[in-house]
Amino acid sequence: MTIRVERSWQALLARLQDDRQWRSIIVLGPVDSGKTTLCRYLGRELAKSHRTAAIDCDPGQSVLGPPAALGLAWEPWDGKRVSALRFVGSTTPSGHLLQTLTGVKRLVDRASEDGAQRIVLDSSGYGSTGALREFHYQTLDLLEPDYLVALQQADELEPLLGSFARRVDLEVCRLPISQAVVGRDPTERRAYRHRKFRQYFEGAAVRTLSLDGVGFHGMVPATDSPERFRTRLVALCDRRGFVVVMGIIEGLRLDEGCLELYAPPFAASQVASVQLGSIRLDRDGRELYYGPPGGGR
Ligand SMILES: Nc1ncnc2c1ncn2[C@@H]1O[C@H](COP(=O)(O)OP(=O)(O)OP(=O)(O)O)[C@@H](O)[C@H]1O
Ligand SMILES: [Mg+2]
Repeated sequence: MTIRVERSWQALLARLQDDRQWRSIIVLGPVDSGKTTLCRYLGRELAKSHRTAAIDCDPGQSVLGPPAALGLAWEPWDGKRVSALRFVGSTTPSGHLLQTLTGVKRLVDRASEDGAQRIVLDSSGYGSTGALREFHYQTLDLLEPDYLVALQQADELEPLLGSFARRVDLEVCRLPISQAVVGRDPTERRAYRHRKFRQYFEGAAVRTLSLDGVGFHGMVPATDSPERFRTRLVALCDRRGFVVVMGIIEGLRLDEGCLELYAPPFAASQVASVQLGSIRLDRDGRELYYGPPGGGR
């Protein structure tokens, strides 16, 4: 796919290249505003002169890693290798704001520890609900990025930007949405997530994890009825809370103290906890919905 590099993008890049002091930039905008494409462009260009990390904060139309997780990769990205994942447990931040916020923060810290000189953060669509708008405010407040890029047609992000107008050490750059953006409807979005999940579960098999010394967290069902766990998406997390592997629960055998899951190969010795997600998948990576038809995003 050929990217149309807008003049406004070139001007932004030139400004970033002139500034020697900064560390992180976040791109915000409504759904289908070209956020991911701009981040890919900036990441690739910045990596020519600095060690540059890309962080994908969108658990829905994820690019770096599978959906329901947030990913960290190094630029220039080879299209495959993701260096760390944090599990959200759903394909939208709604209802999972804490997991998303903590995940983003931990990925930024990890990128910094691993020597990132520049960090480019992609985000999930701004503005669909009041709770999500507040979530974006809190994310900015916590991360304190040096640059905030606001992609907007008119003034969609102004309510948020107004809250940062008097902040020091934050440079706000308003950019128009590129004419080259191609919108995606809910069916295309679902099909994209299905492809990404299917790709992730290539090479998966049913595997057993001993639960000895391993705790559950995340969206833990109120009951310990094994049936409530079946088909749930889970992540096995390492000692620092990053994903070792994601899997689909096949069975919970409490009497034997083990969890059966459909997952790619993993090293059980790395697993420190099990984070439950709220979505359910079949083995082909298709999202299973309970409730009214047409649910899902
Ligand atoms: N400058 C551009 N040149 C060519 N194609 C573009 C450009 N910007 C966006 N697109 C295309 O438009 C589509 C949507 O863009 P993109 O995924 O970057 O938007 P987004 O805001 O990240 O969307 P989402 O809200 O789903 O995360 C993609 O298929 C992308 O290839
Ligand atoms: Mg995107």
